[in-house]
Amino acid sequence: MIDTDPGIDDAMAIFLALRSPELELIGLTTIFGNVHTALSTTNALRLLEIAGRTDISVAHGADQPLERAYAGPVPFIHGSDGQGNAHLPAPSTKPLEISAAEFIVQQIMDAPGQVTLVPIGPLTNIALALQLEPRIAQNVREVVLMGGNAFCAGNATPASEANIHNDPEAADLVFGADWRITMVGLDVTHNVIMTPAQMNLLETARNPLAQHLAKINPLYLEFVATSAEIDGNYIHDPSAVVYLTHPHAFTTAQHPVRVETLGISAGKTWANTFPKRIHPDWAGRPAVNICVDVDSRMVLNVILERLGDQVP
Ligand code: BDR
Ligand code: CA
Repeated sequence: MIDTDPGIDDAMAIFLALRSPELELIGLTTIFGNVHTALSTTNALRLLEIAGRTDISVAHGADQPLERAYAGPVPFIHGSDGQGNAHLPAPSTKPLEISAAEFIVQQIMDAPGQVTLVPIGPLTNIALALQLEPRIAQNVREVVLMGGNAFCAGNATPASEANIHNDPEAADLVFGADWRITMVGLDVTHNVIMTPAQMNLLETARNPLAQHLAKINPLYLEFVATSAEIDGNYIHDPSAVVYLTHPHAFTTAQHPVRVETLGISAGKTWANTFPKRIHPDWAGRPAVNICVDVDSRMVLNVILERLGDQVP
């Protein structure tokens, strides 16, 4: 299941999951972040429609973080519609009647040990699901999330990454739960950069998924060029999906993680790197599998091959 705030890179992640033969996408749950949750839900439905997969359920998630107000959308990064100003038609399908947290709990408890959660937005729905049914921690297969910055600077602020920054309290709960959890954060995604030439390959692919991505990528390219002075797109969310199918493209380190919730560093993910000196505030928390290095060429090749025309 993917929990998402679509989002230009979210769209690529969802399409990549749909074109990965090893994976079965069983649902999308939506969250605020790049856009308000209502628009995330509309976009999730729209993306499934483009992919011809309206059989996949969408559940609408929380509209606000656990303990603070939502900081608001980022139209200068993802467009006023969250989809690079593509202004897609209204979807013809509707979300489920149950909430994202209820849907997550239902799916995990109905298939113990089989469901992988892939959050690629703020972690509010995941925290709510844990509060609703703590036993999901023992029954989920694993959690692989895009978010955080253990050993590098942030992107929302100098201290924090956007998904974690949007709901630090929820993130601290999620990193503290006793489950198998992998963090695909800026430590690796800032090294996975898709060049304009590589993006052009998507433009020449004839499938509707690649065509949509080719249409929406340029806005994000413009943002990265002006904010980071890099000629290419950071491949954040799709990297989490590649981790599922090609974990060997990543190097990981295992440390307990706490999330700063106060002050100018709110949203910073702090790893306790001294196993023999666990600070009391980190004690009793599980080791998070933190991605610290990446074979970016492998990750980009997987994405381009799968979203191109080669894979049916
Ligand atoms: C994350 O923030 C969002 O803008 C992206 O979709 C991604 O999930 C990167 O920091
Ligand atoms: Ca996202």
